[in-house]
This record gives sequence, C-alpha cells and structure tokens, in this order.
Amino acid sequence: MKILGIETSCDETAAAVVEDGEQILSNVVASQADLHAQYGGVVPEVAARSHIEVMLPVIEQALAKAKLDWDDIDGIAVTYGPGLQGSLLIGSLAARTLAVLKHKPLYGINHLEGHVYANYLAADTRPPFPYLALIVSGAHTQLVLFKAHHDYQLLGQTLDDAVGEAFDKVSRILGLSPTQGGPAIAKAAISGDDHKYQFPKAKTERSLDFSYSGLKTAVLRQAQDLAGGDFRMPSFDVHAKLSQQQINDIAASFQRAAIGMLVDRTIKALEQYQPKAVVIGGGVAANQLLRVELTKKLPIPVQFTATNLCTDNAAMIAAVGYHYALAGKEIDPQQMRVEPSLQM
Ligand code: KG4
Ligand code: ZN
Repeated sequence: MKILGIETSCDETAAAVVEDGEQILSNVVASQADLHAQYGGVVPEVAARSHIEVMLPVIEQALAKAKLDWDDIDGIAVTYGPGLQGSLLIGSLAARTLAVLKHKPLYGINHLEGHVYANYLAADTRPPFPYLALIVSGAHTQLVLFKAHHDYQLLGQTLDDAVGEAFDKVSRILGLSPTQGGPAIAKAAISGDDHKYQFPKAKTERSLDFSYSGLKTAVLRQAQDLAGGDFRMPSFDVHAKLSQQQINDIAASFQRAAIGMLVDRTIKALEQYQPKAVVIGGGVAANQLLRVELTKKLPIPVQFTATNLCTDNAAMIAAVGYHYALAGKEIDPQQMRVEPSLQM
C-alpha cells in the first residue's frame, strides 16, 4: 500500500511516498529555516505564506521522485495538529482538496505520533509492544507508553519549555544559530568543558514530567555574570562580551544538564512501566550525547529514529497513515479540522 504523506505543521513544507508504512519511495522537505533566520525565529504568517507557494511543487516532486502517478497512490495522510494554525491549514487544505479530486481516502495524523512512527522507517527492527516513546522536539517533550497501534498513554510531559526550545533559546543567548539551535549547541559543546558550570536539575512534582525554563534562565544568569552585567543586561547583548571558550563551556554544561533530565525521566518511566523497548523520536533525537547516554544507561534495547528522519518530514506522517488505513480510520475531507493544540 502506497501512502502520500503531507506535513506543514511548522516551517518545513514536506511530502513523501511510503510503501507499507516502512519503505520510503520519496521524501521531499523544503525547509524555510533561512527565510526565518533574519527574524530570529519562526514567524507564523511568513511560514504559512511560504507553504502556499511551495506545497504543490513539493507534492509533485514527491510523486516524480517515487516514479509514481496518482493512480498508484492508495491514500493521503496529512498532519492536522499540533502546530501553527496557518501552517496546518495549508497542508490540510491541500490534502483535503486532493483527496476529493483524486478520489483517495484521507487520514488525519497527529504530528507527534509521526515522530514515533519514524522509527518504523528504514529500520532493521520494529519495536515490540509495549514500548516507551520519548518524543523530544522543538515544541514537545513527552514520555508516552505505546501498548499497541492506536493505543497509547501519556506518562509525562514538559510543564513549560520543550527541550528543543531550550536548545534554541540558549543558542540565541550564546549568539549561535537562532533557528538551528540544537546542532549549533552540540557543535560548540565539543570544544567545551561540560562540568565547568553546574546548572540545576529541575524537580517536578510528578516524577515523569519535565521542566526546562529554569535551566534556560540559569544559563542566562551565568552568561550575564561572566559578561560582567546584572540580570537587567538584555539577553541579546550578552554573547558579545563572552569569550569563545566561555560560550563553548556554557554550551557543554547546558547540554549535559538538558540531556541528563531526559535520561533521568526515561529511566524512571522504565522502572515504573517495564516496557519491552524504548524508541526516541523528534528533532532532539538527532543529538549525539542523548544517543550515547541512553544506549549506555538503559538496560533494554533503545531504538533511535534515523538521523535524517528526526526533524520534521512527511515520510513519518505517511508511516502512521499506513496503520490508519489498515484500521479503516478514514476521515471525511469535508469534516477535517486542524487542531493546533492537539495532545497525544
Ligand atoms: O521535530 P522538530 O524538527 O520540530 C518540531 O516538531 O518541533 O524539532 C526541531 C527541534 C529544534 O528545537 C532543534 O533545535 C532540535 O530539534 N534539534 C536538536 C538537534 N537537532 C535538532 N537538538 C539537540 N541536538 C541536535 N543535534
Ligand atoms: Zn516535529
């Protein structure tokens, strides 16, 4: 079964064709990162306008790269939440229209489920149920227990900032990339001392929840202190007064603390729920330290999303779509609505 996936929840316009939920026939991602860099972050209106411009060419390219035409496509899967409302609207409207015009069944997909099912793509093994999923992206940090396809339970999540958001904010404080914070911090950390600064580990009331806003503020205070200013010093002014070594040391110490919290909570969830495997998905799953630490510290198999499929893409949406198709979870194109705050 060949599913066309469409994903526009944030600043990537993506379309892909996946066969039987596992084999990628094409995977096209048009990133808007350069477009938003000049504003220091994603601007929703700019994102939506850009999706409009490239949505159809991206879909056409996905079909062409797979060497398929519409007759070969068995269904369309599209992200309907969570994400930016304007961005979600463009992708879902394209999918709804095409479903009607081309007479294809339509499947509405939760973006977060997509990050988990990215683990079924280009993978040697399928995770056995029940498995624990750690979803770590720019907007979410969650632990979810998957008991079967379509049957899962949210165990814990961030109470404030997402881990990827913390990477991006700290990157801006340190004068590194405003839109590719994770990779920029990871790169700076290679030349830094990760024990130079002791950033606090947040305690959360429910032991499987996360919190990252305190860590981000602790980084800012440390940077202001090193820059010779007090807490009124604007965050965008600080980095110009830091040495390269100080920036690298803060990046390394922050990364150690941020990843430490993920590892900590994952171990707690393992002890409480005893899953058969752990899968990691979302943009932050590309982080090398996270991969090393979890593999070292977890007593059961850990499966990471392939590095090139960690950040937003439509192949992962098509992978979920396949299981929706098997379960007959089709949605009426006239009835589909976007849900910007959709939960797991
Ligand atoms: O899943 P994703 O592409 O978008 C959302 O659904 O949010 O995740 C993007 C996030 C960004 O915050 C980015 O800084 C982070 O993933 N990220 C990383 C790395 N690569 C991307 N964070 C840490 N280390 C990385 N290597
Ligand atoms: Zn994502």
